Amino acid sequence: MIKIKIDGKVLEVKPKTSIIEVADKVGIDIPRFCYHKKLSVAANCRMCLVEVKNFAKPLPACATQVMEGMEISTKSKFTKDTQKSVMEFLLINHPLDCPICDQGGECDLQDTAVAYGANKSRYTEEKRVVFDKNIGPLISTDLTRCIQCTRCVRFLKEVGGMAELGLIGRGEHAEISAYVDKSVESELSGNIIDLCPVGALTSKPFRYSARSWELSRRSTISCHDSLGSNMEAHVKDDIVKRVIPKENESINECWISDRDRFSYEGLYHKDRINLPLKRVKNQWEEIDWEEAYELIEKNITDINTKKSDQIGIVCSPQSTLEEGFLLKKIAKELNTSHIDYHLLEKSFSKNNNWLGCKIDEIESHDAILVVGSNLKHDQPLLAHRFRRYANKKNNFSIITSYDDFHSTHCLEKIIVNPSAYLNYLLMILKEIQLITKYKINSQGIKNTLKVLKSSNETKKIAQSLLSTKSKAIFLGHQILHLEDGDNIKFVAMHIAQATEATLGLLPGDANSVGLNELNLNSNNISTDKILSQKKEAYIMMNFDPLYDYHSPKKINDALKNAKFNLAISPYISDSFKEFDVVLPMTPFTETSGTFMNMEKRIQSFSAVTPPFGQARPGWKILRVLANFLQFEGFLYDSSEDVKADAMIELDKKNEYILIDFKPSKITKGLETLNLIKANDSDMIVRRASSLHKNKKNQNCCLINPSTMLKKGLIDGQKIMISSSEAEVLINVKADENVCSNVIAIFGKQDETFSLGMHNKVKIKKA
Ligand code: SF4
Ligand code: FES
Repeated sequence: MIKIKIDGKVLEVKPKTSIIEVADKVGIDIPRFCYHKKLSVAANCRMCLVEVKNFAKPLPACATQVMEGMEISTKSKFTKDTQKSVMEFLLINHPLDCPICDQGGECDLQDTAVAYGANKSRYTEEKRVVFDKNIGPLISTDLTRCIQCTRCVRFLKEVGGMAELGLIGRGEHAEISAYVDKSVESELSGNIIDLCPVGALTSKPFRYSARSWELSRRSTISCHDSLGSNMEAHVKDDIVKRVIPKENESINECWISDRDRFSYEGLYHKDRINLPLKRVKNQWEEIDWEEAYELIEKNITDINTKKSDQIGIVCSPQSTLEEGFLLKKIAKELNTSHIDYHLLEKSFSKNNNWLGCKIDEIESHDAILVVGSNLKHDQPLLAHRFRRYANKKNNFSIITSYDDFHSTHCLEKIIVNPSAYLNYLLMILKEIQLITKYKINSQGIKNTLKVLKSSNETKKIAQSLLSTKSKAIFLGHQILHLEDGDNIKFVAMHIAQATEATLGLLPGDANSVGLNELNLNSNNISTDKILSQKKEAYIMMNFDPLYDYHSPKKINDALKNAKFNLAISPYISDSFKEFDVVLPMTPFTETSGTFMNMEKRIQSFSAVTPPFGQARPGWKILRVLANFLQFEGFLYDSSEDVKADAMIELDKKNEYILIDFKPSKITKGLETLNLIKANDSDMIVRRASSLHKNKKNQNCCLINPSTMLKKGLIDGQKIMISSSEAEVLINVKADENVCSNVIAIFGKQDETFSLGMHNKVKIKKA
């Protein structure tokens, strides 16, 4: 520690800390524009200049490290005069358009000018004008207002992972620019709106819809992935007008992904239903809640009195702990053991499905291996931690089918088809076994290892896992789509045991970890099984049966065959045509509840607006349904009461079932890889219009040029893809990032959802 003096106060501080960091820690205000604690230091705005004893010139507090005996004055006349001059320079070219600027009321430049600037301008010359650029449907530019702090440039490069904006020109001609004709495509792009200290970058969907002082700020939790980002919803007239991050260093730091930020548009989509619907001769008819409950009660009771297990219950892994708990209780009363929430999982074993460590511990590992994840889309914000880790420590390896880690430094990057993931993990295990003599008790693995040869890449990964102290293996989303998923988990577990690594899953949905811990699927029966056993009735909650399930054909067949189907959903669409009744539930912004995130952190949230129309929160719908079915023990007054009972259930120990390795073959021929874009992940984001205005890669599949050459295909050509689920006519697009022999299709999109998740496919030219 060293001793310094700041504004006469003696402090003991760590060496190599900057003056601005010290000042922030002790609550001394130093104005700044370009400095941001999460970005590299640019020191180009000069707003933070302070007087330091024995230095003739003022020094930038953001770029000056403290030294023993340093005496800093942040309030002296010299400092104040300096800051006033800098402010004057910064305002020379800034337009006086504050009354019509969307940043009004929350503008750093305005606030700083009032606090540190002069009270009138001496500048009478003409101001410069910078033409605005169209950088996409999410961010509006007014670049004349830009003060060239470069926060946006640094964010996209350092956090977003790709340098999508740059500063061109010099001096008075300097301006922010994207690549020619390119919009900003980062899944985290909206954060530059918050970062911009002036009104040069504002939110396009929010623009001119409200002034910042008219908005009520209400805390909430993201429902779009299992990170559990903390957010603030800004509400006017009971409508969510915008969403911004709420800082939580150990979860989302100070960022959120674009789907968290802009999905609120989907809350007000025309598909929202505000009254229960009953299907009459293939038409939807609105009915009141009383009639809907009576109809459900009659049908469910009729079916249920015959024999047990005639009703299948499937809910989304986005369901809150309260909803999951009530569904489980209802299933028990209905005498059905057929309840589940696994929608994408093709292979099924009851697993410990969490991250395996705290989110903020990820970067403390000495070596990391990620298998089967398109991190950029599966985990848009978490991907930043992996990128930061990889660029800092040279020990990050990934096995995947689509290479979206271009600017990230990887120790090994193995791009293979999904059905080969298992083999590559086995090769790593073989190498580890050779070195450590690790004993494997599975005959299946032993037999497979005998005939397998490791590659140079797998040897390198094995060595990196063995030669380091703390290491972690993370299995991604793509593993869920594979028949081989359980085998992969089994082999990864052996690698983790042999190397003393942490094994974690990167769960995709807001509460898949919570529902697992709740033991919702206590009978270990998968949704696949529930559907193939053709139940007499199905209750499905909070997901689109066709887009969100890995086999649209299977779920459609089961629903068609059933006598009565009930959906509880915020939206209605063609996907629901096999249902008899749809009850309108509120999305996460209109209900209270609890999610357990990927690191098993429990976070509760409250409604930020009242329900839309007569829609009701999921937990209330289930509570009243149970009352109509005359089940006892459902007299809950609030979601907090339900949570209290759910927490008791959480305390019970879960038993995980480890399924032994069953040798399987690598798929010969072509197979699909389902790339689920971040903005297609659930019913709400799919309906957020601005997130889908950039129609890039719509209605096409991606194929490696080498595979195209082999199959005689050309870019832009139409082909027919046939899987066991469906046939789809689609354009071909060459993409070197896809591994060969793979047809990458966009999961959960209109054109391709019917093909299902990961299948063997045939193609023919159309
Ligand atoms: S656009 Fe905003 S964030 Fe980007 S350089 Fe200009 S002022 Fe800074
Ligand atoms: S904040 Fe220090 S130079 Fe900009």
